[in-house]
Amino acid sequence: MKIVYLNPSGQMGGAERSLLDFMASLRAADPRLTLQLIAGADGALLDQARELGVEARALPYPRRLARLGDAGAGGQPRLLSTLTRASLNAPSVALYIMRLRRALAAAAPDLIHTNGFKMHVLGVRAAPRNVPVLWHVHDYISSRPLMARLMRMHAGRCAAAVANSRSVADDVRAACGSGLKVYPIHNAVDLERFSPEGSALDLDRLAGLVPPAHPVVRIGLVATMAQWKGHEVFLRAFKLLSGDPPVRGYLIGGPLYETAGSQSDPEDLRRLAARLGLTGCVGFTGFVDEPAAAMRALDVVVHASTQPEPFGLVIAEAMACGRAVVVSSGGGTAEIVTPGDDALVHEAGSVTELAARMDQLARNPTLRAALGARAAQSARRRFARARLADQLMPIYRALLTEAA
Ligand code: GLC
Repeated sequence: MKIVYLNPSGQMGGAERSLLDFMASLRAADPRLTLQLIAGADGALLDQARELGVEARALPYPRRLARLGDAGAGGQPRLLSTLTRASLNAPSVALYIMRLRRALAAAAPDLIHTNGFKMHVLGVRAAPRNVPVLWHVHDYISSRPLMARLMRMHAGRCAAAVANSRSVADDVRAACGSGLKVYPIHNAVDLERFSPEGSALDLDRLAGLVPPAHPVVRIGLVATMAQWKGHEVFLRAFKLLSGDPPVRGYLIGGPLYETAGSQSDPEDLRRLAARLGLTGCVGFTGFVDEPAAAMRALDVVVHASTQPEPFGLVIAEAMACGRAVVVSSGGGTAEIVTPGDDALVHEAGSVTELAARMDQLARNPTLRAALGARAAQSARRRFARARLADQLMPIYRALLTEAA
């Protein structure tokens, strides 16, 4: 069986980490599978895919496509349909679809697995006839009006969809109609890499902070700079901590995707931290290559998304590293933690609730250790990578049988 994966970005975000985990799981389950990857930009994703034995190449998006997103349309239907038409008919985009069609025809896959909104649409437009296209949906569609519209328009040409949680699966069904079969498959993590034992980063050095003179409790938010990841909530909650015991905060991660207007500016966040009087006790590490080592350097890992989180790979990773985790409520997150048992939960966007959870954990090392130990146990049960191939292969097989 030959599968071609289409991914919009070449950078490593959550959806790309997930894609690599699926590929690794499939290769381990059946080394005879041929896996190829075409990405809309070059980057670390391609190198890491090659390390797994996947043939990977970039077919770079034209600028217009790279920057296309929902920001700026403001949910206005007329503007949206103009944008939709203009985007798909723009000569550079039409040319791209032709090039992708040629690349796919040359690859002659049995199945095409797309891993991001733009590739969902481009993939069905460029797929050879009779080759099933499987959409792998990692984010809510209904919160992105332009993409929702495009996906609805193209759903008839998609064979089935995988969603990273039941919550996202419901959203895909609501947006695309009940004609589309949607299979929820939770992500998994590499439990060898994300484990309680292993090296830990020197976060103070990375963030340019003076090493603390006395022991501190380290609390960090690990996330890309997407606006809804709650960096501001984290900073404002951190400001409310009593300082007894002493704490240090870390914002770990950097801006990632090219889509216009979707990222927080790290400089704005630094200015906010300064205004809140947090300079010197909150550090910005920027992007880190080794998230597991960053997490192991933290006593508490915070997830503070202000909108429902589709899945929350960082939560699964932090649990696998045996950390005490605080997560925001709602979305797919509710499917992957047991509140009070293997994680603490705060209401999404609530500065005071997040501060209360952080304070509770900062003061109570026994609670941190117990939550962390149970999180590691849950992660071993829920997030082993072998499960991915077990769940995905039957779907691939069914689609191939239907297409035959
Ligand atoms: C997207 C989602 C995130 C999820 C990741 C992997 O980045 O926003 O919640 O963990 O995809 O599925």
